[in-house]
Amino acid sequence: MVLVFICISFGVIGLLMMLLFPHIRKYAAGGVCRSQARLDGKTVLITGANTGIGKETAVDLASRGARVILACRDVEKGEIAAAEIRTRVGGAKVEVRELDLADTSSIRAFAQKFLKEVNHLHVLINNAGVMMCPYMKTADGFEMQLGVNHLGHFLLTYLLIGLLKRSAPSRIVVVSSLAHYFGWIRLHDLMSQGSYNSGLAYCQSKLANILFTRELGPRLQGSKVTVNSVHPGSVRSELVRHSTVMSLLFTFFGMFLKTPQEGAQTSIYCAVAEELDSISGKHFSDCTPAFVAPQGRSEDTKRKLWDISCDLLGIEWD
Ligand SMILES: NC(=O)c1ccc[n+]([C@@H]2O[C@H](COP(=O)([O-])OP(=O)(O)OC[C@H]3O[C@@H](n4cnc5c(N)ncnc54)[C@H](OP(=O)(O)O)[C@@H]3O)[C@@H](O)[C@H]2O)c1
Repeated sequence: MVLVFICISFGVIGLLMMLLFPHIRKYAAGGVCRSQARLDGKTVLITGANTGIGKETAVDLASRGARVILACRDVEKGEIAAAEIRTRVGGAKVEVRELDLADTSSIRAFAQKFLKEVNHLHVLINNAGVMMCPYMKTADGFEMQLGVNHLGHFLLTYLLIGLLKRSAPSRIVVVSSLAHYFGWIRLHDLMSQGSYNSGLAYCQSKLANILFTRELGPRLQGSKVTVNSVHPGSVRSELVRHSTVMSLLFTFFGMFLKTPQEGAQTSIYCAVAEELDSISGKHFSDCTPAFVAPQGRSEDTKRKLWDISCDLLGIEWD
């Protein structure tokens, strides 16, 4: 009797899931970029584009006619992704260049070569990211998540800003996260040397992405270069590779997550949507404006973080 009851219960749950699945998937997929904008003759640079959200962003922008440059730390993985993009998009103009955001000498070498060989840059997508890794340092001694997600992209943008201005109108898209809500900038211990929590360090780095965007936006006023940040949604990708708990959660709740293609929509929207031509310093999610946590709106923190970032990187960016 009990067995029959259990079987019927599982049957009913299974049937309900089957009926609800399309609706759950539609809800989980989130916003879609509806812009038909073409990017023929335009050059796009995407960091961390060998997998996940970055790769799907590259596929879409290549299909719009752009020359897409994948900046990857592992060139071999980058070439595999480029080959896949070429098979998915007929005539795709896609290239791979080596960039390790965990090493400022790699970033400088990348930019030097890029500026010598590429004449225009119309879209820069700061997409690469590392999440919840054990305590590690970059080649320059920065805590890994802040070093890659924030400082690496800060330096890359600084080195390419002249080219972006010369190529204007141009856009910068910074891939942040809803996780910024749970972060704060530990000005007393930015590199988490006193104490390290991998989740909070990720949240700090994603908050830094928001503060960077909000400080850079007004600085670029009048240049026809815009910068906006993005929360892509919760996306089934390799991002959770360092956390067993997150990997399990992502596996169990997979049907509630976006595919990388769905997760790429807001990055694509910020890169191409005509209505964003003059919008800068804002935050987007599901292809619509999104709220920024109070700590992401602090004028004082964004200025301090800007100055500290310049000091750490040994640059002057007025
Ligand atoms: N997935 C989500 O639910 C989610 C939610 C909110 C925000 N985001 C943000 O979305 C962005 C893309 O993440 P994803 O989900 O697509 O993750 P992913 O699949 O893990 O892709 C991350 C990319 O970043 C690259 N990367 C990591 N460290 C790097 C370094 N030192 N130098 C250069 N590239 C490096 C990775 O290269 P390798 O393959 O060589 O490691 C990979 O190409 C990240 O900024 C992430 O914080 C994701």
